[in-house]
Amino acid sequence: MQRTLSIIKPDAVMRNITGKVNAMIEDSGLRIVAQKRIRLTAAQAEEFYGEHKDKAFFGGLVEYMTSAPIVVQVLEGKDAIAHYRKIMGATNPAVADEGTIRKTFALSITQNTVHGSDSEESAKREVSFFFNHIEVVG
Ligand code: CMP
Repeated sequence: MQRTLSIIKPDAVMRNITGKVNAMIEDSGLRIVAQKRIRLTAAQAEEFYGEHKDKAFFGGLVEYMTSAPIVVQVLEGKDAIAHYRKIMGATNPAVADEGTIRKTFALSITQNTVHGSDSEESAKREVSFFFNHIEVVG
């Protein structure tokens, strides 16, 4: 069993479709073992996305991620990191596979509905960024 960090982003929260995203997650076989709705501060978003701080899209990304609440969650399952990245689809919804979360719901490469950890190392960092050990119940 493996765990990964998922974020349901402002575009999905604002459109009131977090339940539809969760249904796709659960239908795929992943379990939501922790979940909460929060509003990121700019400092928190800058820290979370620190690896992108030199990218041209960084300012817009921070602005977007702080524009409304998000739902952060821990997903558990076999090969959860790769499994979730597969059902999320490509970062850019224009090239995401049919049936993926981003192809179904994302509005743009920035407003792309969900985030998922991209490696075991980032999953560990990202889960502990948002959750402590008593909040994650497998
Ligand atoms: P995410 O998986 O959360 O990781 C970084 C985020 O930056 C990405 O999803 C997008 O929301 C956002 N982003 C905006 N523009 C780009 C871009 N050109 N390339 C990659 N990510 C981008």
